[in-house]
This record gives sequence, C-alpha cells and structure tokens, in this order.
Amino acid sequence: MSVLARAGAGPLSAAARAVVPWLWRGKYFSSGKEPAENSLVTPMLRHLMYKIKSTGPITVAEYMREVLTNPAKGYYVYRDMLGEKGDFITSPEISQIFGELLGIWFISEWMATGKSAAFQLVELGPGRGTLAGDILRVFSQLGSVLKNCDISIHLVEVSQKLSEIQALTLAEEKIPLERNAGSPAYMKGVTKSGIPISWYRDLQDVPKEYSFYLAHEFFDVLPVHKFQCDETRDHVEVCPDAGVIIQELSQRIALTGGAALIADYGHDGTKTDTFRGFCGHKLHDVLIAPGTADLTADVDFSYLRRMAQGKVASLGPVQQQTFLKNMGIDVRLKVLLDKSDDPSMRQQLLQGYDMLMNPKKMGERFNFFALLPHQRLHGGSHQMNARQSKPSPSPVAGFGELVWR
Ligand SMILES: C[S@@+](CC[C@H](N)C(=O)[O-])C[C@H]1O[C@@H](n2cnc3c(N)ncnc32)[C@H](O)[C@@H]1O
Repeated sequence: MSVLARAGAGPLSAAARAVVPWLWRGKYFSSGKEPAENSLVTPMLRHLMYKIKSTGPITVAEYMREVLTNPAKGYYVYRDMLGEKGDFITSPEISQIFGELLGIWFISEWMATGKSAAFQLVELGPGRGTLAGDILRVFSQLGSVLKNCDISIHLVEVSQKLSEIQALTLAEEKIPLERNAGSPAYMKGVTKSGIPISWYRDLQDVPKEYSFYLAHEFFDVLPVHKFQCDETRDHVEVCPDAGVIIQELSQRIALTGGAALIADYGHDGTKTDTFRGFCGHKLHDVLIAPGTADLTADVDFSYLRRMAQGKVASLGPVQQQTFLKNMGIDVRLKVLLDKSDDPSMRQQLLQGYDMLMNPKKMGERFNFFALLPHQRLHGGSHQMNARQSKPSPSPVAGFGELVWR
C-alpha cells in the first residue's frame, strides 16, 4: 500500500475542489415534471422546429444528439457546464483522491500486463481535464516506476470550449488548432510534465496502439432510443452509440492489449425511464429550453457487456464505494489528512470522501466496469509463476483488493 502514500507525497492538488451542496447527475430517476420555469424560445428550439417542419418528426435519440452536440448550438459545444456556476458536479471535481486512485489503477494494470515499453492513455469526454490532471500527477510522482515507459495522452472531445479548458489544465497554455489537414488530431501539445497530448473528435481517429482507455460520465450523454411496452419492462432505453464505441474498444483491446475503465451511473438491464435533464444544479424538463440544460440517461451495463461480443472479458459493474475501497481510498485519505494542517482543506477532504463513498450519495449510484483482454483474467505468456507451468494472473485492482507486486 506504500504506493498510496507515495502518490501525491508532494503538496495537495492546487485546484480547490468543490465542497458540495451541488447536484451530481446520477441523483434522480425519470424525466422532470416540474413546472416550466424557463420557457424561453432558445436558438436550439428554433433549430429543432425548423428541422421538424422541413424533414418530419425526430426520434428521442436525434433530439438528444442535436441538443447536446450540434456543432453550432449544442449544449456541450460552447460552454463550461461543470462546477458551482454550471449545471452539475462530477467525482473528479469533488476530490483529487478519485483521479489519483484511477491513476494507480492504470499503473497497476500496466504492471500486471508486463510493463509495456509504451502506452497511450485515452480519455473519452474529459470535461475540464481535472481527472486526467490528477492521473498525470500520480504518473509523475511514481516516475521511478514508469521511467522507461513512453506515455502519450489522447483526449476524445467534441466541445471546442472544453478542449480549450483541458489544454489550460493539462498544458497550462492555449493550444492552437492543428493546421495540418491530414492530421487526425485537431489539437496537439505537450503537458506540463512533458508528455505529448492530442485531441480528437472521434475515437476512430485515435492511433490503434497499446492503450488504456478511460470514460467517466461519458456514456450517459450518448443519445438513447426509447421504446415502450416490450419485453418485461414498460420502458426500455437503448444507446446504439454506446454499442458502437464498446465494439471499437473491444476490437482494439483484443488486438493490441491494454484495458478500458468505464465509470458512470447506471444499471444492469433493470431500469426503465431514466432520461432527464439538469440545469443550474436542478432537475430540468428535457423538453424545456433545449440547449440550455444537460441531458442524460443511465448507462445499461448489461448492454455494454453484450456489445463486447466476447472479444474481450468484462468485469463489473461494481459500485463506486466498493471499487474505491478496494483501491485503498481510506489509506489515501489518511495520508492526505495527516499531511494537512489547514482545517478547511481537511474538511474538504472529508466531505469529498463522504460524497464519493456514502451509499446515499454517489457510493451506490455510480459503477465501475472494465474491458480487458481474455488472457489478463485467464493467464498470459508474460506472467509465469516460477513453480507453475501455468501463468498466474494477479487480481484486477478495484474489482478485488489492490495488490501491489
Ligand atoms: C458529463 S461530461 C463529463 C466530464 C468528465 N469526464 C468528468 O467526469 O468531469 C461529458 C463529457 O463528454 C463530452 N462529450 C459529450 N458527447 C461527446 C461525444 N459524442 N464525443 C466526445 N465527447 C463528448 C463533453 O463535452 C464532456 O467533456
């Protein structure tokens, strides 16, 4: 466990985190039925009315896609919606410990699979870049472990505004748009710790190299189709975009190795109507003032598992409180508390821990799910136990207790 003390042995993360009366998006089920407080005719509503008049009715999925990611007017495209002044808060914005433990997860998997000479860390939907920043800090602090490994960072982000914020967080500078029309990346730079970093609009554009993939609160913003009155549930939500991305991840991992870690709120094929909106830390009717509120639907992990089509093994979903406990969150919290004599920082750390772990808060609603090559779970050629002819894979951290070999 000493690694948990070493990761972040320096000062606490400079970024003051949220002390959290704000809303996290996993909180409520069902579409809002609140009174229409904001009935403004937004540019997005005008766009949708024009579209429907010209080409006919649209599906719920098309509505969600247009509202969130339309390149001209989409909710995600031109604003920073995270944090106190935004519409919702996420785990990495609440506590630095969250990202640190995920950083340790990637290093632990890298070690368990033979310490490749290079890897890409690929994050889907990186928000403000806070999570990647916390992971990179762990990579720096465990530099002696990673010193011979060539690491590069690859961010898949549709939002122009958020990609600018990510560049400021991770590279501490504005990065110009890529001029080379042949480049699959739309921005390229170097992080403050000297690691190459690139931005893409689509996972397909990321080089197909040995990679660790991360998606935190990404799958829940992908458009869902809604069906009623089939099988045993009276509502069913299906997210084909999530299926396409899982298939792509599975193919890549089966081909080159690596792993994908997916964290989100969701269910294992049991929930019904979860489509909802958030605006200013309040639940928001999905049809009111489109383009001004976030839209989301719970992730169906059973669907993700099916979409992997047996190409890779899957683990989870396990609840956030279990995953973080297995990763050693208690030890890490103690290290940080022992190091801090600032009462407000200590209070922030304790409140952040409670928010992440409390079953009534984010502890039970959020889940972790992983895709791994089959040989990672059933043994591979690089891990031979001296007394056995068969390889002995180490347990996958988070889904079992972290074992640091
Ligand atoms: C709910 S935010 C989560 C941000 C961050 N992962 C966190 O936990 O703080 C969703 C992120 O996904 C991005 N995003 C939404 N749809 C996307 C898409 N189709 N392709 C790539 N990024 C997308 C958004 O711009 C944003 O960065």
